[in-house]
Amino acid sequence: MSKLVDQFQRKFEYLRLSVTDVCNFKCTYCLPNGYHREHKKQFLSLVEISNLVQGFAQLGTKKVRITGGEPSLRRDFVDIIETVKNTQGIEKVATTTNGFRMAKSVADWKAAGLDAINVSMDSLDANMFHQITGENLLTRVMAGIDAAFAAGFSQVKVNTVLMKRLNAHELDTFLAWIKPRNIQLRFIELMQTGDNHALFQAHHISGSVIMKQLINQGWVEKVRQATDGPARVFCHSDYSGEIGLIMPYESHFCDSCNRLRVSSLGRLHLCLFGEQGTELRDLLQTSEHSEALQQRLMEALKTKRASHFLQQGELGGTVHLASIGG
Ligand code: 5AD
Ligand code: SF4
Repeated sequence: MSKLVDQFQRKFEYLRLSVTDVCNFKCTYCLPNGYHREHKKQFLSLVEISNLVQGFAQLGTKKVRITGGEPSLRRDFVDIIETVKNTQGIEKVATTTNGFRMAKSVADWKAAGLDAINVSMDSLDANMFHQITGENLLTRVMAGIDAAFAAGFSQVKVNTVLMKRLNAHELDTFLAWIKPRNIQLRFIELMQTGDNHALFQAHHISGSVIMKQLINQGWVEKVRQATDGPARVFCHSDYSGEIGLIMPYESHFCDSCNRLRVSSLGRLHLCLFGEQGTELRDLLQTSEHSEALQQRLMEALKTKRASHFLQQGELGGTVHLASIGG
């Protein structure tokens, strides 16, 4: 039984845990000048991660996504996967990665217990990929996706941040790519953060533009399950792959919110946007504080708001998403 239920009856069985802020890519919408550390930050240790996930699991959390920054930059990434996977009550461990280390390491991640993988891939054109991410690594990331299938993942999810004039015109190329592959390609509408105002103005385009094109080409929306997150998923009988649309500016987007976030410094965030977070770290040093940790989580959840209110132009305190893991 999940004890993580908010005042709007939403259930939170899914934790997104950032294990580092550091990233080696420079995505224009996220870290256009790359990651710069102001001072050395001490990200959550393996012990802190273990105590944290145990506390969540005791409240009914079943799925954990390990994010960043780029989580695979952690030297103990495999241990983190293993620790999360071995926590009683956790059924599914996923990660979101920029893919640069996948070709080399994805089989080790699988062996450690990783159940699902999301890779960021903003263009299938090598030059555009370079322009958006700051790294000329399309071929390497592609090889990583192949390696994931070879390692035994039956499906790979790919995240593409949709941007007018940069990649929105590539729909047909993306569709051809997923025709023979079990990839769920998810177009994420560009979100405005504290750092990317000009880019947002120039390149934001609604996911509904893609949705119209899909429907014209015979794609059909799948029925949503109660436990599904906010992506709307489309399928087509000629294609092995699927398309997901993530449209955070749509009304009712937040009704299906099922996730909580913890930053790499151990703060609980109830939403991607709009609040400073709740300190948890003082309760993560030993498992003896588990009760107090669970109490604090439940108290905090009482204050979760109905929506991010982005439509009203609220940006909250989020400077870029690398800090709290997309
Ligand atoms: N808008 C939309 N998506 C974003 N991501 C990071 N920043 C933004 C933004 N401003 C996405 C990345 C990655 C996921 C973790 O979050 O593309 O796939
Ligand atoms: Fe790195 Fe992800 Fe941000 Fe790109 S979106 S800079 S890959 S953290």
